[in-house]
Amino acid sequence: MSPVILSAAGAALVLDDSGPGLPRVRHFGAALGPLDAPLPAAVVAPAFASPAPPLLPAQGDGWYGRPGLSGVRDGEHWPVRWSVDRLEARAEPGSGGTVTVTATDAQAGLSLVSELVMDEGGLVRMRHAVTNTAPSPYRMQGLVCALPVPARAGELLDFTGRWGLEKVPQRREFGYGVWSRENRRGRTGHDGTGLLVAGTGRFGFRSGEVWAVHAGWSGGHVHYAERLPEGVALLAAGELLDPGEVVLARGETYRTPWVYFSWSGTGLDEVSARVHGHLRSRPLPVRPVTLNNWEATYFDHGLDRLLELAERAAAAGVERFVLDDGWFRHRRDDRAGLGDWYVDEGVWPDGLHPLAVRVRELGMQFGLWFEPEMVNPDSDLAREHPDWILGRPERTPPPYRNQQVLDLARPEAYAYLLERTSALVGEYALDYIKWDHNRDIAEPVHDGAPGVHAQTLAAYRLLDELRARHPGLEIESCSSGGARIDLGILARTDRVWTSDSNDALDRQAIQRWTGLLVPPERLGCHVGAPGDHITGRSLPLAFRAATALFGHMGVEWDLTSASEAELEELATWIALHKRLRPLLHAGRVVRADHPDPSALLHGVVLPERAVYAYVQQASRLDMAPAPLRLPGLDPAATYEVRTAGPAPERALLPEWAAAPVRVPGAVLAELGLPAPALRPASALIIELERV
Ligand code: DGJ
Repeated sequence: MSPVILSAAGAALVLDDSGPGLPRVRHFGAALGPLDAPLPAAVVAPAFASPAPPLLPAQGDGWYGRPGLSGVRDGEHWPVRWSVDRLEARAEPGSGGTVTVTATDAQAGLSLVSELVMDEGGLVRMRHAVTNTAPSPYRMQGLVCALPVPARAGELLDFTGRWGLEKVPQRREFGYGVWSRENRRGRTGHDGTGLLVAGTGRFGFRSGEVWAVHAGWSGGHVHYAERLPEGVALLAAGELLDPGEVVLARGETYRTPWVYFSWSGTGLDEVSARVHGHLRSRPLPVRPVTLNNWEATYFDHGLDRLLELAERAAAAGVERFVLDDGWFRHRRDDRAGLGDWYVDEGVWPDGLHPLAVRVRELGMQFGLWFEPEMVNPDSDLAREHPDWILGRPERTPPPYRNQQVLDLARPEAYAYLLERTSALVGEYALDYIKWDHNRDIAEPVHDGAPGVHAQTLAAYRLLDELRARHPGLEIESCSSGGARIDLGILARTDRVWTSDSNDALDRQAIQRWTGLLVPPERLGCHVGAPGDHITGRSLPLAFRAATALFGHMGVEWDLTSASEAELEELATWIALHKRLRPLLHAGRVVRADHPDPSALLHGVVLPERAVYAYVQQASRLDMAPAPLRLPGLDPAATYEVRTAGPAPERALLPEWAAAPVRVPGAVLAELGLPAPALRPASALIIELERV
């Protein structure tokens, strides 16, 4: 017997297709060596009492946990038992491949197509499509993608959060039963886990064996980890459907979103690198340093003030100016106007042209904020088309931020939004859209049935169509900050607004954990005001800038109120970002398992250069800071090490910070650099060049 083996970048997935039923996943983990002889059957065949779960686990396969597929057909119940019609595998050892399995269950009246892909970076993605082949309707209740993890994966890590504080990690034992993270918010959610991770005890960024799952979907979704006493455990994810949301008539198909699985033998950094590699397979143009006016002016769209902001931004080195909420009809505050996507004639008598033209004269790109999926009841749109609001026609759902959701699956609403957004992109030759979505969706009803599935697909279609009409247009996914960050939305947008919090201390953690999934060039990271608008905390500019430096850098600060000295320092940081940008936006992200809980050490590494930040978050307990053992370098190379950017205030810097030193990579990794003594809320940037 020769099982199907996908392998790439040190990872492998082994499928046993000796039947009966769907192939069983015998291994997802480390590559198995060159494998020039077939694997012996005795090794691959299901072990006694512990059958490896098949691609879509069901009771008939000996899996008594949550089923991979659940659904009902009125008056008839056939537990599903698939027989495989075809298995096509295109596997190139060392560079991944694809497996497509087609199966049917004639009695249950269903057919299945399962696709499994391992990309060159070793990231696995899977999706299933189920078709109803019988005359009566089939009510789909759930269809998830799952992969087994071995018994040694004894710990779980997942994430929660809220507005202004996304991606807060939580860890627990991976015990028996189900740990399920379920989202019914109609958007990915501030508390969306992003990745659900299982690993060997106390796994870190650079140590431990780790498995992770992520559903690439922006509507309702579920991620879960399940362990059964049969000695089997798995990670699974998929769309979370409401009862009656997907009912398949004969011949109709339901397809899951892509679900991603990442394995690492050396901690979270490698899990992350595989996902980053996937996102980087769609390259982006150079990320222009961006200024967004939201926290600078809010709804005050006085042209003079905005022009002054633009002048100062350009002088500081900003390359893209984004006009946020407040430019369209009736939008003087957040109580009215959403849906009326026409430039407000009172506030902007000459349209946005005076601003857009000047922004371009100053050498910057021009971007605009939209929230297309939303409507204020106090708007011309809602008055003309109250029936376009997503919900029951008899009543409106509870409002949030004075707004309701538009039913995008309604062709007229969809056509209106496409026409309006497209017309404005055309009229102002917009380079960029900040696409917001500021509420969870309550009571989503489309055509009398649950509506999040259709809404999500329609939003995706709208984004796809807009981009197809305007090649080169960039789109940011924002959702009250980071409430819509997933690989579904990232397949059709260019960056995310990581959080509404620009507080650099909170941002260090938010960016670190959001960055597990999203590489730096797609992570919107702005230098906020000296006193943060959400936390009220005042942090030094050097720290705010050193924090924003490591993403897609921008500014969210009223520069008209900044001093000359502040503007000069900001310009220095922006220039540093531009110089480091080719490294920051292409290199491998590394995070040290630094022993001092009051500090962080993270960086980005390319073969020829690297940059790190040593970040003091809180007061240190030890008098002497722990040495900086720099992860990710080539131990055989020698590097020239120097500090970069303005020095942190009142720091005790070690000798090497005064003049560049040459140090072997192995020494930097093992012995480490003597660390500076930093005050809380300060950071030292360290730059390395291979010599
Ligand atoms: C929420 C976003 O996260 C903010 O950045 C800003 O765009 C506001 N919406 C505008 O209403």
